[in-house]
Amino acid sequence: MTEVTDGVLHTLFHSEQGGHEQVVLCQDRASGLKAVIAIHSTALGPALGGTRFHPYATEAEAVADALNLARGMSYKNAMAGLEHGGGKAVIIGDPEKIKSEELLLAYGRFVASLGGRYVTACDVGTYVADMDVVARECRWTTGRSPRNGGAGDSSVLTSYGVFQGMRASAQHLWGDPTLRGRTVGIAGVGKVGRHLVEHLLADGAEVVVTDVREDAVRALREKHPTVRVAVDADELVRTPGLDIYAPCALGGALDDATVAALTATVVCGAANNQLAHPGIEKDLADRGILYAPDYVVNAGGVIQVADELLGFDFDRARAKATKIFDTTLELFARAKADGIPPAAAADRIAEQRMAESRRSPSVTPSVTPVA
Ligand SMILES: NC(=O)c1ccc[n+]([C@@H]2O[C@H](COP(=O)([O-])OP(=O)(O)OC[C@H]3O[C@@H](n4cnc5c(N)ncnc54)[C@H](O)[C@@H]3O)[C@@H](O)[C@H]2O)c1
Repeated sequence: MTEVTDGVLHTLFHSEQGGHEQVVLCQDRASGLKAVIAIHSTALGPALGGTRFHPYATEAEAVADALNLARGMSYKNAMAGLEHGGGKAVIIGDPEKIKSEELLLAYGRFVASLGGRYVTACDVGTYVADMDVVARECRWTTGRSPRNGGAGDSSVLTSYGVFQGMRASAQHLWGDPTLRGRTVGIAGVGKVGRHLVEHLLADGAEVVVTDVREDAVRALREKHPTVRVAVDADELVRTPGLDIYAPCALGGALDDATVAALTATVVCGAANNQLAHPGIEKDLADRGILYAPDYVVNAGGVIQVADELLGFDFDRARAKATKIFDTTLELFARAKADGIPPAAAADRIAEQRMAESRRSPSVTPSVTPVA
């Protein structure tokens, strides 16, 4: 057995980051598919999480990523109040080069072989059109297009949920949920970021944005000329008078230098895994910056895809995403009462919910999707 395998097995069975119920290695040589499906927990219901398609440098890196992402989904789904555990899949390879219908169908057969213990969706490198193909072989597929019974682009409710998280932050800090007159800086105006701009402008906030893609900024400014632009995220976080900073691009946005330079008093954004390393949540709290945990406020997307399994109803899904306001507010209260940062309080609540459920491992799915 190689050292790499030993490392993965050690993580899985012995480390604090492990404890996953099941890890499935999938291979279909005919189509070139190599995938890892990781089920962290089914304590609250069938594991739900997207499929990442990425050219990992090594297979061990892919397994580690799947384990990490699956674990994150358990916490996200638990905090969102969903009857779902956490899982995630990764497909190894460059999607630009190897993605094919044959490969996605083979992947769908592997997901189907789990009989509903894992429900898949889109993630980085996979899109609604891909899920339509996967769904031909697997009924436990969400993130499909509306014409195939899906909910389509999940960024609509993701941005709405982040907006609810910002309103809760405003309520907690300033005693009023409105963002009127507040200045919000958004790093990344892609699918989620640009919808977020609309919510904020409608509420009367001032918005400053930055994006590495000039065309994204230009398109936004053409539609909303009042939006200001910062050269880059570095300049954005230093903007005088910034009330809220919303990382909506990549993970690791909150590193030591950023936390030290931030002028905002709230951080609330869509990006996954914003804290660059453990301890940053404490640094933010020490500087008096209120951090709305990423996986709590960006759960609108998973709420949206979970609803697909019931036969998608936008109003019902939106009503569930609205609850992110209450969840975030309660979380801040719990953090204050326990004397810990909100990120630690979120982990604590999610772990408690999973421990209390005691359904693990669920071998039969409790959700049979509506066709
Ligand atoms: N789409 C969803 O439903 C959803 C759900 C949960 C979490 N998220 C997370 O939210 C974030 C945004 O998702 P998205 O769907 O809008 O992605 P996206 O790819 O559509 O948009 C990301 C934007 O960030 C920009 N960007 C990249 N690096 C940057 C940098 N250094 N500075 C400024 N801008 C930069 C990109 O050019 C792009 O316009 C991601 O971290 C994603 O994982 C998305």
